[in-house]
Amino acid sequence: MKAWQITTPESGLRLAELPDPELRGGGATLDVLAVQIPAYTADLVAGGRGGFPLPIVLGAAGIGRVTATADDVFGVRQGDIAVATGLFRSGRAAEPEEALLGWTGIGGDGRPTPTTDRMRDVWRDGLCAERALQPERTLLALPGAETYKATEQLAFLPWLGIAGAGIERAEVRAGQTVAIVGATGQLGSAAVLVALARGAAAVVAIGRNRDALDALAGLDPRVIPVALTGDRGVDGPAILAAAGPVDAVIDTLGAAPTPEPTMSAYQAIRTDGRWVLVGGVRQDLPIPYGDFMHRRLTLRGSWMCSDSTILDLWSMVRTGVLDLSLLDIQIVGLDDPAAALTAASHRHGLEIVVLMP
Ligand SMILES: NC(=O)c1ccc[n+]([C@@H]2O[C@H](COP(=O)([O-])OP(=O)(O)OC[C@H]3O[C@@H](n4cnc5c(N)ncnc54)[C@H](OP(=O)(O)O)[C@@H]3O)[C@@H](O)[C@H]2O)c1
Repeated sequence: MKAWQITTPESGLRLAELPDPELRGGGATLDVLAVQIPAYTADLVAGGRGGFPLPIVLGAAGIGRVTATADDVFGVRQGDIAVATGLFRSGRAAEPEEALLGWTGIGGDGRPTPTTDRMRDVWRDGLCAERALQPERTLLALPGAETYKATEQLAFLPWLGIAGAGIERAEVRAGQTVAIVGATGQLGSAAVLVALARGAAAVVAIGRNRDALDALAGLDPRVIPVALTGDRGVDGPAILAAAGPVDAVIDTLGAAPTPEPTMSAYQAIRTDGRWVLVGGVRQDLPIPYGDFMHRRLTLRGSWMCSDSTILDLWSMVRTGVLDLSLLDIQIVGLDDPAAALTAASHRHGLEIVVLMP
């Protein structure tokens, strides 16, 4: 089969001809149908986001059709259309350890342990291939997806799930206002879609890219765009003025070099409000103790998502509550990985690149 493989730290991502993956205990084989290529994949391949075992077939999350299951697998069945989330949990309840397969990303404090190393070694290869072997515990069957016409749209479900978990952890209820910092990114745009679908009264969409902000504003009159200038003294008051104090802020920023864009939304959170960090910022936040305490704010982190979040989102998509035809999708094949990663790096917000092997 054809696959996108990294063999050495210097090799980059190459098209390779590999044997079909063989079914083994605890796993299922898939025909890969659709895989979203995140905008920052080229950075990840270049080593900017942590390491993974080599050689590896890239690709943590995507959609596949189950072709066979091991004898001990009951969560998915042959013929199912399933999401592969890539999130492998150790299952050891008292000391949970989690790692992403086919990608970078470790749960907990983000540092690898002997257990996460072994998880990623044993279940090594990901989804950027014609066929894949995945462990049952990363697979989630989507009931009724066999008749969903636009399979390429379903590739966005993992990103919607991550954004949806952030919205859930912010406890956003219908009629509330929510601000999304980094709404111009793909995770941020996913959060905007989820917040709208869950009945937010107003969604303040915050980012730098004007075209992406315009596209979001065109979705729904409840979306209020705010363009970031990079000056917190300007951005903070602009976010506050957009919809008044917000019930919740979801931060989905990429690897911003300063905490300023994250902190710009801080003063817009209402007393008793919630602030959820989902993005890839690697900076520490200068949170004023007394102010945070007196306003009784809640700060939470959110990493990946539960199966139930994805199932809820799939139900919203299936029934038209959440319309994925709003995405601007560029479909690519396996033949030219470098061109696909370049295309992905130029996409913003609701524009995504989807690999259909
Ligand atoms: N918590 C989780 O489970 C989870 C899961 C997956 C990914 N992530 C993280 O989420 C992050 C975002 O993912 P994505 O797919 O949305 O990436 P993306 O499409 O590349 O979006 C990045 C966003 O960050 C903004 N940004 C980057 N640098 C900035 C800066 N210096 N100042 C202001 N804004 C800046 C971009 O703004 P403009 O486009 O307007 O310039 C854009 O809105 C990733 O870095 C990843 O590490 C977290």
